[in-house]
Amino acid sequence: MQDEEVLGKAYDSKLMKRLIEFIKPHKKYIYIALPLLCLTSVGENIGPFLTKEAIDNYIANGDLGGLAWIAGLFLIAVSVTFVSRFGQTYFTNLMGQKIMYDLRVKLFKHVQNLSLKYFDKNPVGRVMTRLTSDVEALNELFSSGLVTVFGDVFSIAIITGMLFYLDWKLALITFTVFPILFYVTFLFKKRVRFAFREVKLRTAVINSQLQENISGMNVVQLFNREERNYENFVKENNELLDSHVKTIFNFAIFFPGVEFINSIAISMIIWFGGVRNLESTLTFGTLVAFIQYTQVIFRPIRDLSEKYNILQGAMASSERIFTVFDTEPKIINSPNPIIKENFQGEIEFKNVWFAYEGEDWVLKDVSFKVEAGESLALVGATGSGKSTIISLLCRFYDIQKGEIFVDGVSLKDLDVLELRKNISLVLQDVFLFSESVLNNIRLGNSEISEAQIVEVAKKANAHDFISKLSDGYKTQLRERGSLLSTGQKQLISFARALAFDPKILVLDEATSNIDTETESLIQDAVHELMQNRTSIIVAHRLSTIQEADKILVLHKGKVREIGNHQELLANKNIYYKLYRLQYNLKVE
Ligand SMILES: Nc1ncnc2c1ncn2[C@@H]1O[C@H](COP(=O)(O)OP(=O)(O)OP(=O)(O)O)[C@@H](O)[C@H]1O
Ligand SMILES: [Mg+2]
Repeated sequence: MQDEEVLGKAYDSKLMKRLIEFIKPHKKYIYIALPLLCLTSVGENIGPFLTKEAIDNYIANGDLGGLAWIAGLFLIAVSVTFVSRFGQTYFTNLMGQKIMYDLRVKLFKHVQNLSLKYFDKNPVGRVMTRLTSDVEALNELFSSGLVTVFGDVFSIAIITGMLFYLDWKLALITFTVFPILFYVTFLFKKRVRFAFREVKLRTAVINSQLQENISGMNVVQLFNREERNYENFVKENNELLDSHVKTIFNFAIFFPGVEFINSIAISMIIWFGGVRNLESTLTFGTLVAFIQYTQVIFRPIRDLSEKYNILQGAMASSERIFTVFDTEPKIINSPNPIIKENFQGEIEFKNVWFAYEGEDWVLKDVSFKVEAGESLALVGATGSGKSTIISLLCRFYDIQKGEIFVDGVSLKDLDVLELRKNISLVLQDVFLFSESVLNNIRLGNSEISEAQIVEVAKKANAHDFISKLSDGYKTQLRERGSLLSTGQKQLISFARALAFDPKILVLDEATSNIDTETESLIQDAVHELMQNRTSIIVAHRLSTIQEADKILVLHKGKVREIGNHQELLANKNIYYKLYRLQYNLKVE
C-alpha cells in the first residue's frame, strides 16, 4: 500500500499544535464564524418550536394576531439563518483558502531548497501530491471540519434540549432509537471510508498505467504492446469498477436505512404521543414539533461522522506535509560564506571520495586541477562518474571525503548562491520550461535584454532555427519543448549558458545521434562556449576532446589518466583503447 493511503489516528495533539500555528494568522475568521455558526444553528432549529407555539396557543384559540406574530418570527428566523449561514460558509472557506495559500507557498519554498538527494528518493508524483492533494485535505479540515464541528454539536444540543424541554417522557422514548442511528451512521462511514480508499488506490494504479502508456506510446506501438496493455488496462478497470460498486452498495443501503430508523422513531412518537394527546397530557403542537425535530436531528449526526473522516484524512496529510517541512536541506550554506569579488574559475578536486548511498563509492580518491580559463574534458565509460563530478562541482551533493576548491576556497565555505551564479550548466538531458524561447534562454532574468538574447543565440548557432519558428523568439514551447529536435534543444541550452556569461562552464554533452548539419552547428557552438572561461566538459565528440587543454580519463570512479590528446595517445593506455574503439581504429 502506498504511504498516501495509510490512514492513521484521527487526532494527534502534536500535529494539531503545528496546524494551529497555521491558523493563528487567520484566527479572526474563526471569531467571525463561530457566533454566526451558533446563530445558524438556532435559526435552523427554532422552526418546530414556533410551529408548536402557533398550533397550541394561537390556532387552538383562534388568535389571528398572535398567529401573524409567529409567522413573522418564522420569517425573521429564516432570514437570519440565510445571512448567518452565508457569512459562516464564506468566512470559514476563506480561512481555509488562505491557510492553503500559506501552506503551498511555504512548502514550495522549502521543497525548492531541498537537496537533490531528496528528489532522487522521492518520485515527482509524490512530491506533487504533497503540494496538491495533501494541502487540499487540510483545506477540508479548516473550511468544513474544525469550525463547523461546533455547529453540529450545538445543533444536536439545541434539539436534544428542546425535546426534553417540551416533554421529557416522550424525549426518552424518542432517544431509544438514537444509539442505533449513531451506530449505523458510524458503521456506514467506516465502510465507505474503506471502499473509498480502495477506489482511490485503484484510480492511482489506472492513472499511472495510463500515464506510462500515453507518454511511452511510441514504444508501445513499436513493440506491438497494444493488445497486452489493453488486457492489463481492462483488468485494472474491472477492479476499479468493483470497488466503485462497493461504495454504491453502501450508499444505496444507508440512506433508506436511516429513513427507516427515523421512521421507527416517528411511529413511536405518533403512537405514544397520540395516546397522550387523547389523554390530554400532551398538546397537539408538541406532537408536531417532536416529529419535526426527529426528522432533522439525523443531519448533524451524519455531518459529525463525516467530520471524523475529514479529521483522520487531514491528520494523515498533515503528517506527510510536516515530514517534508522537517526534511532539512542537506546542502547547508556556510554560516559565514565567502563571497568572492573577482571570480576567476580555478577548480581543484583533492582526494575526493563520494557515494550517493552509504559506502557505495562512485568517486574514489579523485584529484585534478583546472587553471582559470582552461578546459578539461572528462572521458570514460558510461557509469564511470562523469556526471557525478559535475554535480559535485555545482554542490548538488556534498562529498564525504577530500576537498573541492574553487579559486582556492573550499566549496563548503563558498556562498552556494554565488557559486552557482558563476557556473553555467548544460546537461545531457536538456530541460526546457513550457514558456517562450526567450524566457527559456533568460530564465526569468530580466536583466538580460532581448538584444543580448539574440546575440547569444547567434553565437550558439540557435538564431537561425529560432527565427524560423512560428513566433520566433516568442514561440511558446510546450511540454518540455516537444516541438524541437534534440539538437535544437541543445542549441537553446547553449544560448542559455552563454546568456549568463559564467566564469565556469559545465557541459554534459549529449550522446544522442544528431544529424551532421546540426552536429557541426553544435561543435561550433561548443567551441564558442569554451572561449574565455574555465570549462569542464563531459565529452563524447572527438572535436571537443581534442580541443580541450586537458583530458581526464575516468574508470570506475578513479582517475586513470590525465593529459592532452597527444600525450594520452602516446601512453597507449585506456584513452588510446577508448579512442580506437570509439573512432573505429582511426589511429594506429
Ligand atoms: N542520483 C543518483 N543516486 C544514486 N546513484 C547514482 C545517482 N546518479 C548516478 N548514480 C550512480 O553513480 C554512478 C556514476 O554515474 P554518473 O551519472 O556519474 O555516470 P556517467 O559517467 O555520467 O555516465 P554516462 O556516460 O552514462 O552519463 C553510476 O553507477 C550510477 O548508477
Ligand atoms: Mg552522465
